[in-house]
Amino acid sequence: MDAVVVRRGESAPSVIQKPRPEPGPGEALVRTLRVGVDGTDHEVLTGGHGEFPAGADHLVLGHEAVGVVAEPNGTRFDAGDVVVPTVRRPPASGTNHYFERGLADMAPPDMCVERGIAGAHGFMADYFTSAEEYLVRIPDSLASMGFLVEPISITEKALELAYASRSSFDWDPKSALVLGNGPLGLLTLAMLDDYDRTYCLGRRDRPDPTIDIIEELGGTYVDSRVTPVDEVADEYEPMDLVYEATGHAKHAIEAVAALGPCGVGALLGVPESWTFEVDGGDFHKDMVMNNKALVGSVNSGVGHFEAAADTLAGLPDWLIDDIVTGVFDPVNASRAFADDETTIKTAVQFSTL
Ligand code: NAP
Ligand code: BGC
Ligand code: ZN
Repeated sequence: MDAVVVRRGESAPSVIQKPRPEPGPGEALVRTLRVGVDGTDHEVLTGGHGEFPAGADHLVLGHEAVGVVAEPNGTRFDAGDVVVPTVRRPPASGTNHYFERGLADMAPPDMCVERGIAGAHGFMADYFTSAEEYLVRIPDSLASMGFLVEPISITEKALELAYASRSSFDWDPKSALVLGNGPLGLLTLAMLDDYDRTYCLGRRDRPDPTIDIIEELGGTYVDSRVTPVDEVADEYEPMDLVYEATGHAKHAIEAVAALGPCGVGALLGVPESWTFEVDGGDFHKDMVMNNKALVGSVNSGVGHFEAAADTLAGLPDWLIDDIVTGVFDPVNASRAFADDETTIKTAVQFSTL
């Protein structure tokens, strides 16, 4: 079968032939429909994040998949069910209490592997296998765009953690700032449509398709070259929620200055090491005296995937059409990894329903 991989020592994807996997006990065989590409996949290609499976000379890419059960193999699924796999699996050393409690998304990096990212092959191949507890059934109507369930699930979890941090009082957020106009930032902006006022930060000149989407969603575009994050509160307004999806490490600190009293910041980026100066006293005092919160959030669980499928079903068609800028056959997989300003969200298509 075709598989889209990155080989050790390379930073561009290749298509190779691999044997079709055989499902083991408790696993289903899934025929892949589509697999999405996000900023993390680019970080995996450049070596900034992730790792190869132990002893392997390549990593099968892709962690945002949707497929059809081809062989249920005694699992609870029927052939033809449309499913989305979660990303994390137990490490080679065996299972641990995070997985035993159904909390794989809360495991630290050394207590899990991530398919297509860190230590385990991903889903970018004609077929993949998965243990049934990591497969989430979605309606057939979502099959073509089901690769968006995983990224949406990331925000379902992050918002759950952010709201949990405000649960001791009647929090009624009105303003939200999303940092980053990549696919995660734009999907998140769309998910915040019950806020009175939304803002989204980028660093692009007009005309730009992401700025058009921000404005069609009713958001205000904030250019970080004009208004740095720590000046947003003065230039626009103090925010109730800041959602960081740039991977720009200074934004983790500056997000706190953008928050109003009782606000919460959710950090999603996975930056590389970067040393810079911070006034720790001001930062610390602002957090305390203004009852602010910062939550970090990574990965997501089955419940977040289920919520994400509902969210995806409610997103307007125009938004999906505008965000998904390309769907490519495996032979053209490298085009799905293009890094230019006309590309927002892409997917590789292996088969159709
Ligand atoms: P992406 O495509 O790389 O998007 C990042 C966006 O942020 C880009 O559009 C980029 O603008 C913008 N940006 C970066 N630095 C900026 C700055 N200083 N000022 C203004 N805009 C800036 O990635 P993504 O797929 O949307 O994901 C966003 C981040 O979340 C990535 O760091 C990714 O690793 C992370 N992530 C984390 C999780 C998790 O579970 N925690 C899940 C998914 C993704 P340009 O395109 O103009 O450069
Ligand atoms: C994936 C998550 C993963 C995270 C860190 C994200 O792009 O969507 O599932 O946990 O990267 O590797
Ligand atoms: Zn991702």
